[in-house]
Amino acid sequence: MRPFSLSSPVVLLDEPSLGDADQVFDYCQDPIFERFLTVPWPYAREHAEGFLGEYVPAGWASDREYTWALRESAGADLVGVIALRLTGESVAADASVHRVGSIGFWLGAPHRGRGLIPEAQRLVADWAFDQGIIDVLHWECLLGNVASARAAWKSGFRYSGVGPSVAAYRDGSYPDSWQGHLAAGDDRRPQPGWPAEVLEL
Ligand SMILES: CC(C)(COP(=O)(O)OP(=O)(O)OC[C@H]1O[C@@H](n2cnc3c(N)ncnc32)[C@H](O)[C@@H]1OP(=O)(O)O)[C@@H](O)C(=O)NCCC(=O)NCCS
Repeated sequence: MRPFSLSSPVVLLDEPSLGDADQVFDYCQDPIFERFLTVPWPYAREHAEGFLGEYVPAGWASDREYTWALRESAGADLVGVIALRLTGESVAADASVHRVGSIGFWLGAPHRGRGLIPEAQRLVADWAFDQGIIDVLHWECLLGNVASARAAWKSGFRYSGVGPSVAAYRDGSYPDSWQGHLAAGDDRRPQPGWPAEVLEL
C-alpha cells in the first residue's frame, strides 16, 4: 500500500520522511524509551535515518506495518509516531477467523498530556476496521507503563490481562505485558476491568 494521510481537527497522520529525522532522533533520547520501547539503545542519528528511510517504507510496501508521523497540522514538525502492524490471524472457539493488528505509538515528551494518542488511535482503528483490514486490534505495553495503558483504556480497549509480549523486546525476550484488545463495532467508551494502578492516579 502507498502511504496516505488520516486527519481530524486535532491531529494529522501522514507519511514520515527523512526530513523528520531531527525530531525522531531528539525525542528518542528520552530515557523512558529505553525502558518501555523496543527502539535501539543508545539511540543514534543513524537509527532515526534507518527507521524513516528504510523500515517505514518497507512496512508500507510489504503491507506488514503502516507507520504514520503524528503532526498537529500539515507541514508541521513530527510530534510522535503511530503504527499498525498486521500480526496475522487468530481462530476463535467457533472456528471463526479474526485478522489481528497490533498498535504501537509514542509522543515526544513536550507533546504528552493533551489526548493526541487516543485521537490518533481512533483514526487508525476506524480506518482499519472500515477497510476490513483487521477485525481485532491488539495493544500491549510493558508492566507499569501507566501512560500507555491509560491511552488504551481511554480509547475503549478491553483489558485482556498479563501475558508475554507479542513483540520481542530489545534483548530478544518476551516480557510480561499488560494487554488489551478492541474489536470492530466495540463501544469506544472506557471499559471496566483494568488494573487499579492504571485507573487510580
Ligand atoms: C504512551 C504515551 C504516548 C501517552 O501519551 P499521552 O496520551 O499524551 O499521555 P500522557 O503521557 O500524558 O500520560 C497519560 C496519563 O498517564 C499518566 N502518567 C504518565 N506517566 C505516568 C507514570 N509514570 N505513573 C503514573 N501515571 C502516569 C499521566 O498523568 C496521564 O494521566 P491522565 O490520563 O489523567 O491525563 C506517552 O506517554 C509516551 O510517548 N510514552 C513513551 C513511549 C511509550 O511508552 N509508548 C507506548 C509503548 S506501549
